[in-house]
Amino acid sequence: MKFVSLLHLLSFIGSGYACGGHNDEKEWSSEELAELEAKWGHEWSFNGIGSFAHLDYVKCLTNPQETYDIAIIGAPFDNAVSFRPGARFGPRAIRQASSRQTSLRAFNPRANVNPYQNWAKIVDCGDIPITPFDNNIATEQMTQAFKNLGRARPTSSLSQGRPKLITLGGDHSLALPALRSLNEIYGRPVRVLHFDAHLDTWDPAAYPSAWGSTHFTHGSMFWMANQEGLLSNSSTGQSVHAGLRTRLSGTDWADHESDTAQNWVRFAADEIDDIGTKGIIDGIMSVLGTEDPVYLSVDIDVLDVAFAPGTGTPEPGGWTTRELIRILRGIEGLNIVGADVVEVSPAYQGRGEETALAAAQVVYEILSSIIKKGLEDGAKEKRGSGRDEL
Ligand SMILES: *[C@@H]1O[C@H](CO)[C@@H](O)[C@H](O)[C@H]1NC(C)=O
Repeated sequence: MKFVSLLHLLSFIGSGYACGGHNDEKEWSSEELAELEAKWGHEWSFNGIGSFAHLDYVKCLTNPQETYDIAIIGAPFDNAVSFRPGARFGPRAIRQASSRQTSLRAFNPRANVNPYQNWAKIVDCGDIPITPFDNNIATEQMTQAFKNLGRARPTSSLSQGRPKLITLGGDHSLALPALRSLNEIYGRPVRVLHFDAHLDTWDPAAYPSAWGSTHFTHGSMFWMANQEGLLSNSSTGQSVHAGLRTRLSGTDWADHESDTAQNWVRFAADEIDDIGTKGIIDGIMSVLGTEDPVYLSVDIDVLDVAFAPGTGTPEPGGWTTRELIRILRGIEGLNIVGADVVEVSPAYQGRGEETALAAAQVVYEILSSIIKKGLEDGAKEKRGSGRDEL
């Protein structure tokens, strides 16, 4: 204690005050700042103004000099939903539900890492201010925002030159702007791992259109992404749906045929009864592998209504939260280049926040996977360059 006060005094004398400056111009020494941090830096889980997991909050869109390896970004937009609205309040609800994730106590025993105390600088970039009045403008705002945020400077070499964005939705349509930005930043089509009760590859022409048709919906963004060449078409570059249980259009399998033609592979929700989480994991990994860039899109309605009633288009018969977490851990080897957690509509959730809690947990598991993959790839690279030197 004495030592600290002596340091304090010395640095005080050494500061502007001793040179005749005013006290409010005093320069803080690193020791003093460390002392303040030790005294006041800790946030209890119920403290703070509500960034994701108590991460530093920076308005990255207006601070383009900000550096990060992973950014959490909110997309509070729900004007492309087909049933219950309210997902514009999703980012707030997910942040609130993440409050018991603090860097102090965030070691993930399933993954063997603490994503908040590792190589990546993770920041909460706040929300994209998306207009609720015009979907063309909204789409453009999201596209530009993702492009700008995705170009920011990473801090660690393990990021391999590009930061990763994890978007809190918002309705699912935000995946289209996210894929546009990835296409520009990576210069190639990517593949998608899509957890959802629904296909979301619906051709908008299938809707009644006597009054003109709108393409940008939360059920057609993957169809649009395919049309725009954002998704890989190659026979070795398929994308994957997991957790499907939606009803289909019309009287036959046309939706599935169209989905297959768009290069998707499907895993239905109830396949888990026969093959278990391990079977689902093996199926997903055998299609996607560990090398190709994958955009991971998690619609919270992949969970059963019992576990996630707070969503816009609920479907009975989904997975449990535990099953989804298990599957997310099983696919940690994927090369995830961006992710979203969408369709949390908190007005329909219970008072215990189960839906938003599940979404916050999904983000935590994705962060854990990105951290682990970065460590593994870094180690591989090191071994590789070591061989070169020999
Ligand atoms: C994939 O096929 C669709 C439909 O034929 C096409 O519009 C799209 O541009 C193709 N994508 C790529 C990456 O070539």
